[in-house]
Parts: sequence; C-alpha cells; structure tokens
Amino acid sequence: MRIRKAVLPVAGLGTRFLPATKAQPKEMLPIVDKPLVQYAVEEVASSGIPMVVFVTGRGKQAIENHFDVSAELEQELAGRGKEELRRQMRSISGMLRFAYVRQQNPRGLGHAILTARDVVDEEPFAVLLSDDVIVNEPPCLKQMLKVFERYECSVIAIQRVPHQTVSSYGVIRGHLVDEPGWEKRLYRLEDMIEKPSPQEAPSNLAVIGRYILTPTIFEALSATTPGAGGEIQLTDGLRRLLAQERVYGYVFEGKRYDAGDKLGFLQATVEIALQRPDLGRAFRKYLRSLHL
Ligand code: G1P
Repeated sequence: MRIRKAVLPVAGLGTRFLPATKAQPKEMLPIVDKPLVQYAVEEVASSGIPMVVFVTGRGKQAIENHFDVSAELEQELAGRGKEELRRQMRSISGMLRFAYVRQQNPRGLGHAILTARDVVDEEPFAVLLSDDVIVNEPPCLKQMLKVFERYECSVIAIQRVPHQTVSSYGVIRGHLVDEPGWEKRLYRLEDMIEKPSPQEAPSNLAVIGRYILTPTIFEALSATTPGAGGEIQLTDGLRRLLAQERVYGYVFEGKRYDAGDKLGFLQATVEIALQRPDLGRAFRKYLRSLHL
C-alpha cells in the first residue's frame, strides 16, 4: 500500500489573525517569504507523495493561484533577467499535482476530511494541518510513512506538551510499543479525547497536525456526531476507528511551531529567519543589537 494523496484542509476562517485574514486566507500569511501552506506542501513533496487535495472554501482562491502557473509574472521576471526567481516561481506549481474540493460549511476538521472522500477514494492517505509547521530532516510525514509501511495502520503525529496546555489539542491514551527500531517513540492508541481539560486528559501526549489514515476513517466520520465546539471532530472519528483497527501514535523528531497562534507564528518567523542562509547572520546581528 502506497500513500499517493495528502489532504490539506484550508477552509478555516482564520479568525485568530483578523484583521490580516479579513480578505486573504490565513494559509497565505508568510513566514519570512513563504506562505504557511507552502511549508506543508513542500513537506508532502519531500516525503515522496505526488498529489495534494486541498479542502478549500469561500475566499481561498489565492491558494489555488499560488500553486498554479503565473505566465504574466514569469514573463515579467524573464524580461528583467531574473531567471533564478522565475525558476523558483515555476517550481512551486510544478512541485506536485493539485486537486481542490469545496467544503461548503465550516463544520469541523472531521467534516473537511469527509469532503475529500470522493477524490481520495478507497485508499490510505495523509492529512496535514498547515498551522503546524514542523522543521526537520527527514520531514515529520516521512518519518510517519515508515511506521505506516511497517504496520499498514493509521498513524498520528504526537508530541509531549505542558500539561496545562492539553485543552488546545486532541490527547491520547496509549502504551509504548516495545519493538526495536522505534526508540520509544511509537505508541499503540487505546483512546483519545478532543480538547480535554487538564483534569480529564489521559496524558500529555498531544495530537499534532499530521495524520496517515486508512479509508475506514470515512465510514467512522460519517457516523460521527458534532463534538467539541459543535464541530465534527477528526479525533472523534479516530476514536470510532480505534474500535475497528489499530491506530499508532508517533512521537516525531523535529521542531514544531503552532503558527495558528500569534506567539507561535512569531516564534516560527524568528527561528526560521535565523536559519536562512541569506538572512540569518544579519538578522542575528539585529536581534543582538536590541539588548533584550
Ligand atoms: C486540531 C485537532 C486537534 C489537534 C490540533 C493540532 O485542532 O482537532 O486534535 O491536536 O489540530 O494542531 P485545532 O488546532 O484545529 O483546533
């Protein structure tokens, strides 16, 4: 079984970044000079998955345009002798194949995934939430594919978070899989709960926005009723899936930024800028000059 498709839900309203997101998708907010959503698409490409299915909505056309060829821009750049930049622009659209489905009502992450059902069809697939920017080589998704290739079950990215922050996440209960090769990173899930209070939370192992799912999830989601926040939650669908199939949680290697949050977005911006070969030195010098 190969994973050939990655679903990227991008229909959310982005209210946490208003007014910046009043007339543009939050997924297009740039970290340094690259839109958030491009980080996720590049992770898909470098994990060897050839196709992205965007679950999009009203006001998100900028995302489609971003991953399409812009003949005018390319012509303009070529005319000005900016060949390298022209090549970079072309590589964005040539990176992968893209498909778009519309989620007509924002009814939650689980509902967004269900919207992609006809395009994904009866095969396992990946899901990436572009709010979670994860920097690592090999990429988080590629690490998870190794688990999938070994067990052919659904795999969820997990990370230990401070206990008082569990209510921002799906949280798992599970036990460590004591098999060689996983360096105590692999958990077999027993249960999970969406956005629990610290008292309710079964652990501090939080779900991060990377999933590999078997197509059984579609049946599970069809039977799922609205949960936390009145939305159809992927976590609740996964809970149903757990009753039928094994599901693994993988503590991935890498630094994760919550770019859906203002502070997390700023942290990602600063740290990613510091790592950039073209900016890092000058930016570090500037930060030092602030004497914070
Ligand atoms: C979603 C999921 C949640 C997960 C989180 C990771 O929540 O519902 O289970 O822990 O992504 O970022 P959201 O951040 O969309 O509220």
